Amino acid sequence: MKAIIITQPGGPEVLQLQERPVPEYAKNEVLVKVMAAGVNRPDVYQRKGNYPPPAWAPQDIPGLEIAGVIEATGTNGSRWNVGDKACALLSGGGYAEYASVPEGQCLRIPGNLSFEEAASLPETFFTVWSNVFDRGQLKAHESLLVHGGTSGIGVAAIQMAKALGSTVYVTAGSEEKCKFCEALGAAKAINYKTESFKDAVHQLTDGKGVSMVLDMVGGEYFSDNIHSLAEDGRLIQISTMKGKDAQIDLSLVMRKRLTITGSTLRSRDATFKSAIATKLEANIWPLLASGEIRPIIHSVFPLKDAAKAHELMESSDHSGKIVLSLE
Ligand SMILES: NC(=O)c1ccc[n+]([C@@H]2O[C@H](COP(=O)([O-])OP(=O)(O)OC[C@H]3O[C@@H](n4cnc5c(N)ncnc54)[C@H](OP(=O)(O)O)[C@@H]3O)[C@@H](O)[C@H]2O)c1
Repeated sequence: MKAIIITQPGGPEVLQLQERPVPEYAKNEVLVKVMAAGVNRPDVYQRKGNYPPPAWAPQDIPGLEIAGVIEATGTNGSRWNVGDKACALLSGGGYAEYASVPEGQCLRIPGNLSFEEAASLPETFFTVWSNVFDRGQLKAHESLLVHGGTSGIGVAAIQMAKALGSTVYVTAGSEEKCKFCEALGAAKAINYKTESFKDAVHQLTDGKGVSMVLDMVGGEYFSDNIHSLAEDGRLIQISTMKGKDAQIDLSLVMRKRLTITGSTLRSRDATFKSAIATKLEANIWPLLASGEIRPIIHSVFPLKDAAKAHELMESSDHSGKIVLSLE
């Protein structure tokens, strides 16, 4: 099969199209003929050599999400049949013509979505569900601040939290990006380049603060995140783009009874990921089928142009997801 290989750690040019054997599939796994693969920022970190895949995942083929057609199943009596269309969360190996994946990490393609649209969903929707709703327990009457509102994670978080009844505030790096987030359902988007998000949140919530912050920035944001939280607020850290070290005023944690947590999805096992799939299928897939939540795709590239897709992602000019097509 054709696959995009990380030939060595480095810039986008190290991504090269090569021939590889079709992957084996184990009991409880399916083999998927990939029609589209989503691109995520963690793929960029992996390409640079900063985010090694877990031992059981393909080591040099990036790609955490796909959509395609089931080619073979490893289990008799699987809920999947050859020829079914599915999208799936992977631990790696998505930028290729075939991928094997635990069957519990596959979901039916909701509604009439295309392969490209379906491939844009798993990594961000699993991450947001697991952090915002399972770990953080966001409730319908509560408020959520999402940093990086136009990121793949951001466009999923805005729509999921709004659809389930919460008020969503976001930060983004330009007026255009802010308008994009508000059109998607954010109650207010804060341009972090022109105003302090801490001051804006204070004003927007009459000084109360938000119930939860979903943060991918870290570093200098940490202190302002803590100040932006309401009593019993939760800070959920899912990345540290501006640094992993931070200073904390512990008295605020005590006075406001805050919870500081975070997680990474990729390293979790198939049982954990399959449990999230079940919850997404019950709570979010119907909203995708009805159109209340939609995939937000910025650009589609052919598989061979994976390097161009990474260049675009690193420019941060995109709003929403970048997808590779194999059709
Ligand atoms: N913990 C997990 O399990 C998990 C899973 C998936 C993704 N993630 C993380 O979530 C983040 C978003 O991933 P994604 O694929 O959705 O990314 P993405 O679509 O590439 O979006 C990232 C956005 O972040 C902003 N940004 C970029 N560099 C920044 C910097 N140095 N400081 C502040 N903001 C910056 C940019 O928007 P602006 O122009 O508005 O600044 C950019 O569009 C990544 O850091 C990724 O590693 C974590």
